Amino acid sequence: MRIAHATDIHWFVPPPLTRLPGKRSLGTTMLYVRGRRHHFDPAVQRSLVAHIAAAEPDVVIITGDLTAQALQAEFALAREALDPLLASFPVFVQPGNHDVYTSGSKRDGRMARTFGEWMHLSPGDPVARLDHGELTVLGLDPNRPHWSASGRVPADQLRRLRELLDSEELDGRSILLALHYPVVNPRGELYDNRYHGLRNADALQAVLTEARNRPLAILHGHKHHGYRSAVDVGDGAVTTLNPGSSGYGFAPDQHRQAHFNVYTVEDGVISVERHAFDGERFAALPEPYAAPPAAPTVGSVGA
Ligand SMILES: [Fe+2]
Ligand SMILES: [Fe+2]
Repeated sequence: MRIAHATDIHWFVPPPLTRLPGKRSLGTTMLYVRGRRHHFDPAVQRSLVAHIAAAEPDVVIITGDLTAQALQAEFALAREALDPLLASFPVFVQPGNHDVYTSGSKRDGRMARTFGEWMHLSPGDPVARLDHGELTVLGLDPNRPHWSASGRVPADQLRRLRELLDSEELDGRSILLALHYPVVNPRGELYDNRYHGLRNADALQAVLTEARNRPLAILHGHKHHGYRSAVDVGDGAVTTLNPGSSGYGFAPDQHRQAHFNVYTVEDGVISVERHAFDGERFAALPEPYAAPPAAPTVGSVGA
């Protein structure tokens, strides 16, 4: 079973200048005045989709921030760009904080209207779920329009996750948990800061600690520089995997390079392959996460 994982692709379209409410106005300033627009490259985004399609994975997982400012035009662009994958593979899409960037975008349900078919939510169940062969992918949505870029897993999702991980129906299955936010930083400390973190990361850690069936790995994004880490669950650890932004423009001098991951899951074991954009194409790296986690540097925090 091979699974492709991309995240934080951030398709963007300049918003009409007449429609710039407070938060979006700030976001647009970030995008254009500070040059952040150039951090994400349509050519890399096209190459990403082509390379994932060529890899012919069994399942594709995207952990949010498909858009920059949750504009309808950005959702339309993302939907069109992803069509080669949506039409050919089982795809599991989770939203990111940028996909509910404003209260209006959340109220309109833009994410669900565009990608509902691939969000795998059943009526009355707050946890997304996709079953494919031996694999069960579970998805959480901690995103909310907010003055900060922080998130919080709602209580009903935590309750349902606890119930699912304790249920016999998941015995013997290979479980992956997908959500936009990191649970831990590269050093394995809870990533729960008030500006960018998952505020109740401790509650999710507690659910994982007490669970009868634990995920093989937690797949996430949000921080645009990828890393592998682990959540301490008392008698062990759950691996966390962040490819890093999959839509980054190629700027190695500024430590920006797009990545996506390919996982192989076999008999309850996961192995990781990491692909990086080298200026022309995506290619597998000899060591997926060779460098030991370093202290965050300027510009290393994505949103
Ligand atoms: Fe992002
Ligand atoms: Fe984000």
